Amino acid sequence: MEKNLKQRVLSGMRPSGKLHLGHLHGALSNWVELQKKYECFYFVADWHALTTEYEKTDKIKQDSIDMVIDWLSVGLDPEKSTLFVQSQLLEHAELHLFLSMITPLPWLERCPTYKEQLKEIKTRDIHTYGFLGYPVLQASDILIYKADKVPVGEDQLPHLELTREIARRFNSLYGEILTEPQALLTKTSKVPGTDGRKMSKSYNNCIYLSDTPEIISKKISSYLTDPSRIHPTDQGHPDVCAIYSLQEIYYENPKEIEEKCKKGTIGCVQCKKMLAERIIKSLEPIHKKQHELKSNPMLINEILKNGTQKAKAVTEKTMSEVRKSLKLWNME
Ligand code: TRP
Ligand code: SF4
Repeated sequence: MEKNLKQRVLSGMRPSGKLHLGHLHGALSNWVELQKKYECFYFVADWHALTTEYEKTDKIKQDSIDMVIDWLSVGLDPEKSTLFVQSQLLEHAELHLFLSMITPLPWLERCPTYKEQLKEIKTRDIHTYGFLGYPVLQASDILIYKADKVPVGEDQLPHLELTREIARRFNSLYGEILTEPQALLTKTSKVPGTDGRKMSKSYNNCIYLSDTPEIISKKISSYLTDPSRIHPTDQGHPDVCAIYSLQEIYYENPKEIEEKCKKGTIGCVQCKKMLAERIIKSLEPIHKKQHELKSNPMLINEILKNGTQKAKAVTEKTMSEVRKSLKLWNME
């Protein structure tokens, strides 16, 4: 398959099951937008899930399906983008193997995500070869598609830099085969969860894309607001209020709320009610799509199978070049 004229975008997500507003505003809306201008490849990084979940693998497949349902429901379009599952493309593993040969250990050991996770994750033993190699697998995901651009959040920038270094090293050893990708830094809107911290499954503070209107109203009313406001007429401080951060995403004119809050002419109960209505409304078409997809489970399978086929045409071509450049067997 020839690369078409559009630049190529590639990104992946670990299978995290049903998605929440943090995923939507942090990554997915951007993925949807990129479909207009780029040739996009988006995949479920289920092998990456194994780096931490190797002891308990029974949820990975269902989480992948739930995640893809949410991808499609917010507008990722299999007609425009290639959607696939990493573990169905064995070439990723082959390239990972070659890249592992040329990646110096210190590049991996100094990686900030590695050091942080080793400190943070206490419930599972991640002192493994596979976990150390997480970014090498990610590099292989990216380089095998010769992606030009990789939309990621800030936390992933070190992995992108490492990918570029690995590509340079590969090319200087074996010839100019791989493309050095650029990061497309997603400007993440701040999406606070019900406790004011970053929305995250592990904090149990999420509003899910599949939450019903009743649950959304309940969750929104449970948010803490400006703690110095006791009466609705007290002057408020939107800058310290999690509800205001969400209003900035959902309300067409957030300045209006900011002013009213500061003057004490809007109460938190009313403010929350307005927000909940908007979130509920914005999720209506998404729920409709989720419902359609859930009533036709074969469809997801079909979409991923098609995507895998399209992706495979690319990975096989790259690997054939890679094997040649390494002067290895390449029987066709
Ligand atoms: N490490 C990424 C994350 O946790 C997921 C990922 C795996 C990825 N392979 C990738 C992202 C390739 C971009 C490109 O979010
Ligand atoms: Fe927050 Fe709205 Fe209350 Fe102001 S009025 S403190 S923005 S919830």
